[in-house]
Amino acid sequence: WGWGRSGYGARLGLDYLELKEYLRAEMLSVDKALDQAVTLIESELESDIGSAVRHGVMSDGKRLRPILCTTAYRECGGRAEQSVYELAASLEMIHAYSLMHDDLPCMDDAALRRGQATTHVLFGEDVTMRAGAALIPAAARQALHSARKLECGVSGAAAVVQELLEAAGAGGMVGGQWLDLLGEGQTLSPKELDELHRKKTGALLTASLVMGALAAAAEKQTVSALASYGRSIGLAFQITDDVLDATQSAELLGKNPSDVDLDKSTYVGLHGLDQAKEHARECIAEALSALESIPIDAPVLTILARYVVERER
Ligand code: IPE
Ligand code: IPE
Ligand code: MG
Ligand code: MG
Ligand code: MG
Repeated sequence: WGWGRSGYGARLGLDYLELKEYLRAEMLSVDKALDQAVTLIESELESDIGSAVRHGVMSDGKRLRPILCTTAYRECGGRAEQSVYELAASLEMIHAYSLMHDDLPCMDDAALRRGQATTHVLFGEDVTMRAGAALIPAAARQALHSARKLECGVSGAAAVVQELLEAAGAGGMVGGQWLDLLGEGQTLSPKELDELHRKKTGALLTASLVMGALAAAAEKQTVSALASYGRSIGLAFQITDDVLDATQSAELLGKNPSDVDLDKSTYVGLHGLDQAKEHARECIAEALSALESIPIDAPVLTILARYVVERER
């Protein structure tokens, strides 16, 4: 599991420092596209709602979902195109809104996010509700416009947007957030907890990969293998989020650990810390075998799978 010149990364020709450099460069391009998207929303909205959107979106996130999208696109043979960052930005817009609402007092009641005061602490709950809601259609518009610019055809573009909307909706993220709230103070079965995690977090991560693959007009078999990779790293990502909540400081995470106080149903609560970590690693092994099943060279997706569980925040 080690990085470094002699570890797994070295065999792929990519070590930890190179991954960090890759993430940093991708983040700059994603942020440029996000800034343009937010500027458009600001021009359409009263200034306090526009400022709340900017705060929620442009704060210091890892940008993992957009980077999974651009990486999948590239490793599926997509051409170098600025529009793919615009497409990737649509995923971050949905993600940012989900965090703005997740932190509201009626949900996880959090005061700290990405190392800063949460949107409702700065702008109020009413403004945050509306700013978050404004991001949903804006993200759909962003996905549609950018997919039309990429050469994946009209039906390809429609499939890309559908993927985003399905993942964000009641069958995906919103549904998972609902299960998360219902799960407070409950003892869920392992199957129920998996469903919760797969919906609230896994669905959008899976869509990130599928959207990138569809935008690159990848073969059906490749799209479905990347979906399977996405489902595995998606579950591993939320298990790791639970592990970090149980083990790391607010200073390191940029958010206050709160799962115990909120009596959340988490992997650590149900299975214990060691089993949670073990399960996350098993998911990564599954993800890697899904990748190996297709005839594309995907060195960065391979490294990113490990990053999902080895990250420190
Ligand atoms: C946090 O997501 C919420 C979850 C779905 C676990 P991230 O850990 O990707 O948060 P940012 O975007 O980097 O802040
Ligand atoms: C949030 O899960 C998942 C979302 C869809 C936003 P958490 O509530 O565990 O995320 P954090 O820990 O607050 O980032
Ligand atoms: Mg939550
Ligand atoms: Mg939360
Ligand atoms: Mg959490």
